[in-house]
Amino acid sequence: MAPWPLPFAGLAVLFLSLVQTVRSYSDPEGCSGDCFTHDPSLVQRHDGTYFRFSTLDRIGIWTAEDLSGPWNRSGSVLPNGSVIDLPGNKELWAPDVSYYRGAYYLFYAVSTPGSQTSAIGYATSPTLEEGSWTDHGALITSNASTPYNAIDPNVVNGTAADEFFLTWGSYWGDIYQARATVDGSRILTSADERQIAYNPADQHQMEGAFVYRRDGWYYLFISVGDCCHYDPRPPSGHEYRITVCRSPSPGGPFVDRAGVSCTEGGGTTVLASHGDVYAPGGQGVFHDGAYGDVLYYHYLNNTIGVDYSQSQFGWNVIAWDEDGWPVV
Ligand SMILES: *[C@@H]1O[C@H](CO)[C@@H](O)[C@H](O)[C@H]1NC(C)=O
Ligand SMILES: *[C@@H]1O[C@H](CO)[C@@H](O)[C@H](O)[C@H]1NC(C)=O
Ligand SMILES: *[C@@H]1O[C@H](CO)[C@@H](O)[C@H](O)[C@H]1NC(C)=O
Ligand SMILES: *[C@@H]1O[C@H](CO)[C@@H](O)[C@H](O)[C@H]1NC(C)=O
Ligand SMILES: *[C@@H]1O[C@H](CO)[C@@H](O)[C@H](O)[C@H]1NC(C)=O
Repeated sequence: MAPWPLPFAGLAVLFLSLVQTVRSYSDPEGCSGDCFTHDPSLVQRHDGTYFRFSTLDRIGIWTAEDLSGPWNRSGSVLPNGSVIDLPGNKELWAPDVSYYRGAYYLFYAVSTPGSQTSAIGYATSPTLEEGSWTDHGALITSNASTPYNAIDPNVVNGTAADEFFLTWGSYWGDIYQARATVDGSRILTSADERQIAYNPADQHQMEGAFVYRRDGWYYLFISVGDCCHYDPRPPSGHEYRITVCRSPSPGGPFVDRAGVSCTEGGGTTVLASHGDVYAPGGQGVFHDGAYGDVLYYHYLNNTIGVDYSQSQFGWNVIAWDEDGWPVV
């Protein structure tokens, strides 16, 4: 999720056109049933059922028996909104779901477009279904005096027992991270929060971070560019796209394929607009028993339309290249 469209500088147009090499991408795999999503989070329950969560509707829930669908709407995570007393608490953005010792943890954001008055909260459930969630309220908050915007949460296991990393951020100082631990169903974050990615250009359009561990590397996937409102469209290349940096450590430092630090504008493009696909972002990575590693995201279909309500669920199987970088 992101603030309203903001002006951009001509320099960045030049910069983007220089770093974006021309390449082709596979079209998304199929999706049938109800395919609306924004900032999706995907998890497979132990009985095999897939759950897909989305921004808005107090975190909408969809279920399916295969990634390709049919996807059915199945209520909301917090049908009455969040207990966090901030504007936006009846909307809720950018879910991220993890399984930890018998419970599912769903992190969400409370904010309004363009505002830094935000919070990341979390809820727990044994089953993922509507009616099973307990809201635990705020974990990270931000306001005009914080260097970041507390939205777009993501968690990944750390290397030590019971350690994990919470990553978040959008615009302003972009992507931040803190170490966290779980005590019962309560989550405690450390005070060592630090910036792990930053886009120095323009309005610092960067958000939706997702860290995925594979083969000794931690891959930091990020949504870069203008999100959400494409009427009028920004200049070509300024809309959402997905980039990646990686590190041998979950806490970074993260660099892209060319060795450029993710805190200095680095990021190798994994997926950008192509054919019918416009402005892919809000991504995550999921290991599927049948398909392998899957990159999932929302995108707009140029043929259908680019209104927010027309955001579609997309997914592609990742082919890791010989150097261990993701290709779709
Ligand atoms: C979704 O709905 C279809 C059609 O009613 C049904 O066949 C399918 O089992 C449903 N899937 C889930 C996961 O409930
Ligand atoms: C939502 O609010 C209604 C009316 O106050 C209440 O009956 C219901 O139990 C609440 N649902 C949840 C999940 O808290
Ligand atoms: C993360 O760690 C928890 C606790 O040990 C475990 O339950 C969970 O399966 C781990 N998740 C992944 C993706 O490895
Ligand atoms: C702003 O957010 C910080 C970090 O959460 C908090 O310590 C501070 O009290 C907040 N300031 C205001 C004025 O709310
Ligand atoms: C876009 O929508 C058209 C019309 O529904 C459809 O034929 C096409 O397959 C879609 N493309 C993608 C990438 O979703």
